[in-house]
Amino acid sequence: MSVSLLYVVGARPNFVKAVPVIDAVCARSEVVQCVVHTGQHYDSALSANVLEDLGLPKPDRFLGVGSGTHADQTGRTLIAVERALLEEQPKIVVVSGDVNATLGGALAAAKVGIPVAHIESGLRSRDRTMPEEINRLLTDQLADLLFVHSEDAVENLRREGVADEQIHFVGNTMIDSLRRFELRALERAAWTRFSLRPEEFVLVTLHRPSNVDDEDRLAAIADELADLASRAPVVFPIHPRTRARLDDTGLLGRLEAAGVACLEPLGYIDFLSLETAAGAVLTDSGGIQEEASALGIRCFTLRPNTERPVTLTLGTNRLLGDDPASIRQVMPGPRGAAAEIPGWDGHAGERAADILLAALVDDGTVR
Ligand code: UD1
Repeated sequence: MSVSLLYVVGARPNFVKAVPVIDAVCARSEVVQCVVHTGQHYDSALSANVLEDLGLPKPDRFLGVGSGTHADQTGRTLIAVERALLEEQPKIVVVSGDVNATLGGALAAAKVGIPVAHIESGLRSRDRTMPEEINRLLTDQLADLLFVHSEDAVENLRREGVADEQIHFVGNTMIDSLRRFELRALERAAWTRFSLRPEEFVLVTLHRPSNVDDEDRLAAIADELADLASRAPVVFPIHPRTRARLDDTGLLGRLEAAGVACLEPLGYIDFLSLETAAGAVLTDSGGIQEEASALGIRCFTLRPNTERPVTLTLGTNRLLGDDPASIRQVMPGPRGAAAEIPGWDGHAGERAADILLAALVDDGTVR
């Protein structure tokens, strides 16, 4: 049987967003699905471990694109995905989020005339210095089916001229994964491994180029993290790009000497486990702003803007801005009520699956 739905995934957050849709399609229909992993993330900590936790241990194809400059990585993705598409001839290509694999997958599909569905459409930071913002803008221009998870996203797309019939409010598939694995994460009690007490520690993740690529800025952030560690236990699973910068600059030793628990990146369930018990999260990630809101954990975002404003208005997120000294505002505290955000109910993947399957019945004519 020929492939109906082909998913292009490449980086950690893609896996978490795509799996609920893949599973929901599988539960409803026998259409053939194919998962193509571009290889943007290749360390087992960022890729294999996460996929295994999500129950998707082996993608159907692995393209081995790897790291590089944006042009390098996106260009290699485009070439490799096109080859896979010509061989598999899927009816619809599904991409998610805003990473380079998302844009590479959408562009390859659009160029060979295959309709594109985009999970998590319409988010805008209005900050074009973020590579992700470029990926979001272009992917949404290429997509035929745009799956959104917040009202602001609908408005953004309308303003950019996307037709209403193409916009589908399905909700947040990343929160589907969270709801599905939350209990397992709690039971795992990963915090006990680091002798941490629930609600008393701060969980830190930082990997954006704007925070970690400039040495002076990274040094200022490291100083603030060291200071934070004098007020509360700090646990910091470190993304490879951040670790490389901290290593090169000798800042890793400074953090360790200050008592910051510097960890390797964690698998999905282990990370979620720490997140469910954290007293606060300090991050520059997009997905973690959403997860913290859905869990009722206070979130401090070290960025001047967010493409996820609903986490500020209805969730637990607070923008710290650009100044590393703002980290002094971070304090752990008791977990609050989970934010009630429309469509963040654990069933977004099912709604997306229904739309995809309906589009396939229409013979892939999705416009
Ligand atoms: C990418 C996404 C970002 C997302 C993040 C999630 C883009 C533009 N950025 O950022 O939006 O929040 O994934 O984690 O797509 N590296 C490794 N091993 C790996 C992967 C990366 O060591 O498995 C190192 C390499 O030095 C690489 C660097 O990290 O050059 C950056 O990796 P890349 O995938 O380009 O971007 P991320 O920072 O992970």
